[in-house]
Amino acid sequence: MIIREATLEDFPGIDAFDVFARDRKEEIKRGEIIVALIEDKVAGYLTHNRSFYDRPFVQFVCVNKEFRQRGVARRLYEQAEKIYKDENAELIFSSTEDDNAIMLGFFERHGWQKSGVIHNIQPQAEILFVKKLNQNELTFEPVHYRV
Ligand SMILES: CC(C)(COP(=O)(O)OP(=O)(O)OC[C@H]1O[C@@H](n2cnc3c(N)ncnc32)[C@H](O)[C@@H]1OP(=O)(O)O)[C@@H](O)C(=O)NCCC(=O)NCCS
Repeated sequence: MIIREATLEDFPGIDAFDVFARDRKEEIKRGEIIVALIEDKVAGYLTHNRSFYDRPFVQFVCVNKEFRQRGVARRLYEQAEKIYKDENAELIFSSTEDDNAIMLGFFERHGWQKSGVIHNIQPQAEILFVKKLNQNELTFEPVHYRV
């Protein structure tokens, strides 16, 4: 399995199985998508950014049905964590719907903690998770406001 930043050439491969069905070209251009490749096919992708209160945030992850339950999502998350660890970020956030048993189990088994519940995005509640990226005491990076 190859894990790397997506390029525009990956877009058709992503779009072929993307259940979230978005035009992801702008995110690709901004360097916010990681892809997993198996046998030269896009097996899965993950989007990450700092759109959540400036915090590292994994927003969408989707794996091609053909390649599920082979560790693709786990490897994509590991790469996102590495990117922000290398930036010395203290925390990374992600979320899933309260009926997504696969993702809820994944977060619980991989060191994520529940950080909140967001209602009114869709019928199911969105459960927010957080993971510490180092062993240090939290200092809380300030959210920057223009004054
Ligand atoms: C959720 C999803 C991303 C998982 O991708 P995946 O590559 O199959 O997941 P992995 O193989 O990396 O498995 C991750 C963990 O979930 C578990 N898992 C994966 N599929 C599972 C299933 N169908 N039933 C039970 N557990 C499952 C694995 O056992 C693994 O557990 P572990 O890490 O503790 O060993 C994939 O099913 C998907 O794209 N679903 C549709 C989109 C979606 O729900 N995205 C998430 C929205 S936040």
